[in-house]
Amino acid sequence: MSTTVKTQTPITQEHIDFYRENGFVKVDDMLTPEELAELREYLEEAMHSEGDRSVNTDKKDGLYYRVLNQKVNVWRDHAGMGKFSFHPRFAQSALELSGAAGIRFFHDHGLWKMPGDSKATPWHQDTPYWPFNEAEAGAMSIWITLDDVDERNGCMAFVPKSHRLGKLKGIDLASPQNIFDYVEGGQTTVQQPVVVPLRAGSCTFHNGLTFHYAHANSTDRPRRVLAIIYVPEGVTYSGAKHVVTDGTGLQTGEPIKGPRFPLLTGAGS
Ligand code: SIN
Ligand code: NI
Repeated sequence: MSTTVKTQTPITQEHIDFYRENGFVKVDDMLTPEELAELREYLEEAMHSEGDRSVNTDKKDGLYYRVLNQKVNVWRDHAGMGKFSFHPRFAQSALELSGAAGIRFFHDHGLWKMPGDSKATPWHQDTPYWPFNEAEAGAMSIWITLDDVDERNGCMAFVPKSHRLGKLKGIDLASPQNIFDYVEGGQTTVQQPVVVPLRAGSCTFHNGLTFHYAHANSTDRPRRVLAIIYVPEGVTYSGAKHVVTDGTGLQTGEPIKGPRFPLLTGAGS
């Protein structure tokens, strides 16, 4: 068994209770002003680099590009991004919120919501797109904004408690669906969405089962976000196709592990 050293985080018991109850939480000032300036510089460079290890999943002029200009695993082309994508404070915060024994890195992504005919990110759960067997294990995202965000430039909204609906069918992310019809007949009373504006350097965490949405960007500048996906130690690979697991040699049914998916904090098996 390997273990990692505990790091100080801004997470309070109130954050933990809110996250577990509602499936998301806002955490102010996750980054210091110095870290924010450094991250802006590195992520700008990473998003504009021609490196061939990260994956730009959306082609300019493609339908989905209007929703997101997304680059997956920017850390693989920009060494500076390792400091943020593997940041112990972010991972330790995820550990405390989720209650997992250990937290592994699954992937990072730069999420630029581009100006000009911008589309909202439709309501969806993340879990249906991840190649994990244990949908309820608590895989989650941190979403750190490099810009102040509100409804005008792509802030997020969440449906409280929707993580309790369990894993539903994936939604077509290029064509919006009314999830309030979609989850009709679900086991829980679906709640009103909560819109979460944020200051630059602040973040949200959300459970992969929580329904979330991001507004279109009606300003003339990109909305710049770094998101990192964390997977609890012990979660196993389902074998489903996914851009970060394809070609890594992971075997169906084995725990997510190996050099692309390091244990960031907590106890490993
Ligand atoms: C977005 O940044 O627009 C969406 C992020 C997400 O779906 O987690
Ligand atoms: Ni999502």
